[in-house]
Parts: sequence; C-alpha cells; structure tokens
Amino acid sequence: MNTTRVNQPRRIERLIAGRATADGAGVKLTRVLTQDLQRRLDPYLMLDAFGSDNPDEYIAGFPDHPHRGFETITYMIAGRMLHRDSAGHEGLLENGGVQWMTAGRGVIHSEIPQQQDGRMEGFQLWLNLAARDKMSAPWYRDFKADELPKVATPDGAAVTVIAGASHGLGGAVTRDVTAPLFLDVHFSAGGRFEQPLPAGHNAFVYVYRGEVTIGGQTVPAQRMAILANDAQADGVVIEAGEDARMLLIAGQPLGEPIAQHGPFVMNTQQEIAVAVVDFRAGRLGQVA
Ligand code: CO
Repeated sequence: MNTTRVNQPRRIERLIAGRATADGAGVKLTRVLTQDLQRRLDPYLMLDAFGSDNPDEYIAGFPDHPHRGFETITYMIAGRMLHRDSAGHEGLLENGGVQWMTAGRGVIHSEIPQQQDGRMEGFQLWLNLAARDKMSAPWYRDFKADELPKVATPDGAAVTVIAGASHGLGGAVTRDVTAPLFLDVHFSAGGRFEQPLPAGHNAFVYVYRGEVTIGGQTVPAQRMAILANDAQADGVVIEAGEDARMLLIAGQPLGEPIAQHGPFVMNTQQEIAVAVVDFRAGRLGQVA
C-alpha cells in the first residue's frame, strides 16, 4: 500500500455543468469538457457523459466515422456496445469495461448498442497526442471490468485504475508523454481518498453519483470540478458523506497548438485540410 500523503491539497478552481447535445446518429449526451476548455485541460480534448433508460436516446449509436490525431477512451458503466474499426479491431464493451483506441494517423470506426432496451450509461474521453505521435499507427485494446486493476483503500474508497497509478497499483494503460491518470473512485459513506498529483498536471473530477467535497466545497452529481494548479499543491483530497462515485482525470499538458475540425485534432489548419482530403480519398481507413 502506498503511504504517500497529500500535504497541500488542491482547491477547486471552477465547477462546470456541461452542455446537453447529441452526437453520432442522435445519441443524447452531455458534453462536460467542451472545446473552450481544451487549453485549460490540455492534454484532454473532450469528455462526454451519456446515460439514459430510453432506447430512443441511444439506439442508433455511432455509425462509421473517422478520427485522426488523438486517443479515445470509452468507459461503459451500464449497457453493451459493439466497436468495429478499419484497423480490424472488434470488441464488445459492456458493464464496467474500457476501450482504449489510439486513432493516430486515422481509423474509421463504429460503436453500436447491442441492446433493445434497458440502461446505457458511460463516458467517452478524448486524449490528445503529441505532434510527433499524431500520425502513428492506430492501436486498440479493450478491457473487461474484471481485467481492470482495482484497489480498496482503508479509508472507504474503491478505486479502478484505468490509466496511471494509484495507491501503488499501476493502471490498465500508461502513456509516457501525456502521463494520463484516469481513476473511477467509489466512496462508501464517510469515505476519503487522497491522490498525489504533480502540480503542473491539469486535473479534474466528474461526479456521477452522490456528491463529494474537495477543500470544503461540494461537487454535486453531474458536475465537473476543475482543480487549480497551485505551484505548492501536491495532490487532491476528496471526501464523501454518503455513497458517491466520481472520475478523477489528470495529465501532463502538451503545450502545443490545437486545431480541431470535428473528429480530426491536429496542430495546424494545414494538417486539418490534409486530414479532410485523406478522409475523402478513403485513406483514413487504409491498413498500411
Ligand atoms: Co468515435
């Protein structure tokens, strides 16, 4: 067990409610991390939260669409979704599973619900790639819930380590340049969770059940809290009076220009124009 304690906890800089929207073929979702926050939360580009008991709001899924220049991480809380992509990867994502896809120079993929009714709930996070990695070969892994590293702390927190490391436990995925930390933390009543964070890494929390408290400030359900980057702060301390669940996400900023056009995220408009031409010419789905 890692005994690292946090001495100077970060405070909340800002709470964000997100924006209701639809994507794919009409899937209702909340865009929590919107384009105007990409600079502030570098290396993250987007966080979508979806959750509905109404099949009309998810059944059409996300038919074939391209990506270039970043990574997508899908975390399924409830429901079943089938992924297929042009690099030949296929995977069924369900309750508690994670899919990590590095689009690199380009993939075309689909994500289609495999259920007629019932609840569909989860998250999709976009993680940027450094300029030198944007045209790398596509990569894909999926992890079933029981393949994800989990640790229970003595303070009443159960942690799933999707990326990075927590309490001495390495996550399912690690990345050198962006050093992503992606934790799902479930609190029992009165639970407390500490996580060291390098001061320069951008970090945020998204609460999806109950509420938590950070530095005396409450974060209600369906809110993102951006954590301030105070130079002397060495981590975050989070407490929950009742049962609560939240994501803690952090990473090392790239500090590079961000040029986005829909599903393409590059560094310049020139590279975006090339991506559009490549897509129209059918080159994004080509297996090199
Ligand atoms: Co996609």
